[in-house]
Amino acid sequence: MKLANILKSIAIATALALFAGAASAQKVEVLHWWTSGGEAAALSVLKKDLEGKGVSWADMPVAGGGGEAAMTALRARVTAGNAPTAVQMLGFDIKDWAAQGVLGNLNTVANKEGWDAVIPKALQFFSKHEGNWIAAPVNVHSTNWVWINKKALDAAGGKAPATWDELLAMLDAMKANGIIPLGHGGQAWQEATIFDAVVLSLGHDFYKASMMDLNPEALKSGKMKEAFDRMAKLRSYVDDNFSGRDWNLASAMVIEGKAGMQMMGDWAKGEFLKAGQKPGMDFVCIRFPGTQGSVTFNSDQFVMFDIKEGGDAQLAMAASVMDPKFQSAFNVVKGSVPARTDVADTDFDDCGKKGMADLAEAGKNGSLFGSMAHGHAVPAAIKNAIYDVVTAHFNGEYDSATAVDELANAIDAAK
Ligand code: GAL
Repeated sequence: MKLANILKSIAIATALALFAGAASAQKVEVLHWWTSGGEAAALSVLKKDLEGKGVSWADMPVAGGGGEAAMTALRARVTAGNAPTAVQMLGFDIKDWAAQGVLGNLNTVANKEGWDAVIPKALQFFSKHEGNWIAAPVNVHSTNWVWINKKALDAAGGKAPATWDELLAMLDAMKANGIIPLGHGGQAWQEATIFDAVVLSLGHDFYKASMMDLNPEALKSGKMKEAFDRMAKLRSYVDDNFSGRDWNLASAMVIEGKAGMQMMGDWAKGEFLKAGQKPGMDFVCIRFPGTQGSVTFNSDQFVMFDIKEGGDAQLAMAASVMDPKFQSAFNVVKGSVPARTDVADTDFDDCGKKGMADLAEAGKNGSLFGSMAHGHAVPAAIKNAIYDVVTAHFNGEYDSATAVDELANAIDAAK
């Protein structure tokens, strides 16, 4: 073959490779667990935003609230040497993957766009590894909320409960009115989400000492026994078919008035909005009684794995996720609040405005804590140990005193 032909073949092959590279640079495969109606509505805001920038979206949804199944699927993909372009991830899971040295570096976008100045330090603790940005936080959810059907609230006296005793009185009144007082899905992560709020309602110092510092005295205290007693009391207000129910189906029970309230993170609000309901008219959002002034948060972050091609698309996606306009448009639908502190609350409803104000106040007052249930208080192994004891107790396998002992033992074993 003449030299000219060889050179021509090399030129064609190079052009094709560059074209392929360019094409793959504008495509992201995203692993996430946003599969409910409200979550999918929020996700479509991101998909459209990226497609408008020429980045096509390959969807890799893995259903399962709280993301356990998604993280299992991720481990399989990475083990097979085929990491997705980007992954929805929470808190300590991000730190664990970062420590493996397999995440991409987002500093070029982060430094160019000044993320350090607008992302709260509480989030940066999870978004950065050894000073490098390795994740882009799209929101801040919080878990210590109660979502109350307005008609059911009015039929039960009309005053939103501000204390534990008022909460029980409201639940009793709803039971007497013939509806399911507490709409709940019997899954470990959902019981743990309620446990977050119950522990926090017994004092934010107690929450920090027990759920974050794993202080043995706090874990074995009378307060922890009270927390389990309160969980047992709440168990008496759920329906007989709660076991295994997905969280968004419990939200639907409150939306339809079959249940009076749901104790859940503010992703639940996305379901109410998707159903065309309005805060103050169709439902009421309150902080779990006793937790007013404090917030247990979890931030959804997109982590980019260090893959051979696709780096440009990863940076384009990180830039999109962190764009202030996008952060408003996405979070208005998702039920969360922006990760950035420079986004106005103009487009948010009253619950969103309250969420943003509560987050700022808790951050200022030192009463902002990572949610244990959603991976922002302790690493996954310890979180899962807590899950197991809380859900076993909720399902009657342990009485409260035994649960206290089992919790301390399980945490010690998981360390
Ligand atoms: C949380 C996540 C939310 C929502 C929720 C229910 O962990 O941060 O975005 O997906 O789980 O699955």
